[in-house]
Amino acid sequence: MAKLWQKDYSLDSLMEEFTVSNDYILDQELVISDCLASIAHARGLMDIGILDEDELASLEQGLSEIIVLRQEDNFPITRQDEDCHTAIEGYLTAKLGETGKKIHTGRSRNDQVQTALRLWMREFSIRLCRETGVFAQALLDFSKKYEFVPMPGRTHMQIAMPSSVGLWAASYAEEFYDEAQRLMQLSWTLDQSPLGSAASYGVPLPLDRTFTADQMGFTRVQNNVLYANNSRGKFEAMLLDCCDYIALTASKLAQDLILFTLPEFGYFSLPVQLCTGSSIMPQKKNPDGLELARSRSSVVSSCATRVKSIIRSLPSGYNRDFQDTKEPLMVGTKTTWQLVQIMQRMLEGLEVHQDKLIAACVPELYATDVVLQKVLAGGNFRDSYKDIGLHLDSVQGMDPFETIKSRTSLGTTGNLGLDEDELFVRLMVDGCDDILASYAETYENLCGLEAVQAVLY
Ligand code: ARG
Repeated sequence: MAKLWQKDYSLDSLMEEFTVSNDYILDQELVISDCLASIAHARGLMDIGILDEDELASLEQGLSEIIVLRQEDNFPITRQDEDCHTAIEGYLTAKLGETGKKIHTGRSRNDQVQTALRLWMREFSIRLCRETGVFAQALLDFSKKYEFVPMPGRTHMQIAMPSSVGLWAASYAEEFYDEAQRLMQLSWTLDQSPLGSAASYGVPLPLDRTFTADQMGFTRVQNNVLYANNSRGKFEAMLLDCCDYIALTASKLAQDLILFTLPEFGYFSLPVQLCTGSSIMPQKKNPDGLELARSRSSVVSSCATRVKSIIRSLPSGYNRDFQDTKEPLMVGTKTTWQLVQIMQRMLEGLEVHQDKLIAACVPELYATDVVLQKVLAGGNFRDSYKDIGLHLDSVQGMDPFETIKSRTSLGTTGNLGLDEDELFVRLMVDGCDDILASYAETYENLCGLEAVQAVLY
């Protein structure tokens, strides 16, 4: 279709390639949210007398058709179109003629893309929050299963103190829980409608921004029309920062697993289905997935940095630079989504070798416990510490099971607080389910289709 801004010349082809780049491909992910937002906009236009009832009905029908086509992976967007907004208006105009030409009244692609992205990010933040919460639940299940399986605790990577597989796994569950919470908090910031801000300065039409925000299930309007446009990229960066922390934790977990599945350690092992082989060394069973989890984590981090670098020096109002924040948004979010899923798969397949873990609990692991036994018998800590430090050979091994149960302070091996952890995570996952159900209901009220998702991951 001709460009929305097409007049009496056509764009130089090299300039077209440069300006559009791969944006038209990335825009496939925004088609559904753009259609949903367009229905809300069309309803707003009928409210102020720009469209009549029949026109609104036919636009809604056309936009719902596009949603179905996109769900079937059958809504083409070409480089000549530039973006999904053009392809969608093109479809409506080809089908409805004059009526299709009215849909863009009172909006700009600037607030249009902002609104589509906002709907998309709002949903993604909750989907990722849920997925991360589900992974935290799996880690808590694992922790419960191996709650009292001893494991050497390490600092500086050296043998340090008695610990347990339960403690190790629950530490990651709590870390991911906190990170998922950040997404939940961010979803409040994302939950404001930029629609009606137009090119950055509003329009001289009495658009009811509260009405359209309400149609899309936003709790509020993003008030200032200039800020509504200036927040492009900023909210993406905030979302990617949340992703970055999740990815960072996944990377550290991957590193632990690489180490603990080394045959020299043998604490855990991964099933062959989750490992790859070597083209030359027939004995190899490589943890490529874990290694790539580490490197993908830095991909996510670079996406967050890239978006911030792009927007850092921009003047107020829409600038085309914003378009280039879309790729890091899509790459960073998708990578994080995959990371959480692949780590969950690894955890499901992880085998625990209790014999190796117990064998690794060498006598020096108990040195501090012996010092504290002396303290309990009346000695002072510093002298007891020195005494044991000078006679490390005297430290005998202890029963590792008894040792980990003897730690009873909250959060230690004998008192992990798993029930509380489970409760908090469950509340979070249930909360996400409720929010996602409310989005699905909002979407159904807009397009008449059930179980629509804006995010196609
Ligand atoms: N593809 C563009 C973007 O993502 C759509 C908005 C174009 N707006 C404009 N004023 N050229 O930013």
